[in-house]
Amino acid sequence: SDPKPLAGRRVVVTAGGTREPLDPVRFLGNRSSGKQGIAIADQALQLGADVLLIHGHIEVEVPAHLTTVSISTADELRDAVLEYSAGADLLVMAAAVADFKPADYAEYKIKKTEHSDDAPVIRLVRNPDILKETVVRRQQNPELGPTLIAGFAAETGSAEHTVLELGQQKLQRKGCDFLAVNTVGLSQGFGAEENALTVLSLDGEQPFETSGSKAQVSRDLLLHIAKHFDEK
Ligand code: PMT
Repeated sequence: SDPKPLAGRRVVVTAGGTREPLDPVRFLGNRSSGKQGIAIADQALQLGADVLLIHGHIEVEVPAHLTTVSISTADELRDAVLEYSAGADLLVMAAAVADFKPADYAEYKIKKTEHSDDAPVIRLVRNPDILKETVVRRQQNPELGPTLIAGFAAETGSAEHTVLELGQQKLQRKGCDFLAVNTVGLSQGFGAEENALTVLSLDGEQPFETSGSKAQVSRDLLLHIAKHFDEK
């Protein structure tokens, strides 16, 4: 029979994109399809874990055998993650979370005016950093865990830094145990069937690389992480 290295472990996975409402008909969103996070939840289940999938907006069906909670905004995701990850063995944050939301929600649909070329300016404010918040909570209340916390980093690279340099900086800033770095672009990461991950560890372990279908990279990621339960 299959090995079940996550048997007895409680795993919480986030997937999909958040939407930040602007008015009753519009929102700020992103191109996450949910495929990567759903694949992680599915593989964690196959590896024997007790899994909860918290998902935002997704473009694919969630397998019926997964237990789910659905959210829309980053604030809702934050509340769900803090509630359901308490006492968990592993949290994997694969959701694409909006860093900013509109400062004001317009109660009525925003209209263009007939007599001018004016366009409205949308002012944004910061959303909570959910990954960071779970790390800080664990520092303050170790009994709430999660024992292991893994984030994702969706990077395009920049003029000054490679994707991996940006990933290392993000790992230090967030302070999570693992950061799965994936390059994203118009045909990479978001929505794609395949992915390539470089998994960085806060403890300085050599980066772990995997590529292939989102199911394959999910399984490899979970098996890599599972080895670290013994050290905790
Ligand atoms: O859904 P798919 O189409 O399959 O695409 C998969 C994916 C590209 C969305 C996925 O592999 C991925 O990279 N997810 C993370 C996307 C993201 O928001 O990355 P980020 O670099 O902006 O955020 C870093 C980490 O902090 C992430 O774990 C994110 O969940 C978390 N975060 C981000 C912002 C915020 N306000 N709170 C957070 O917790």
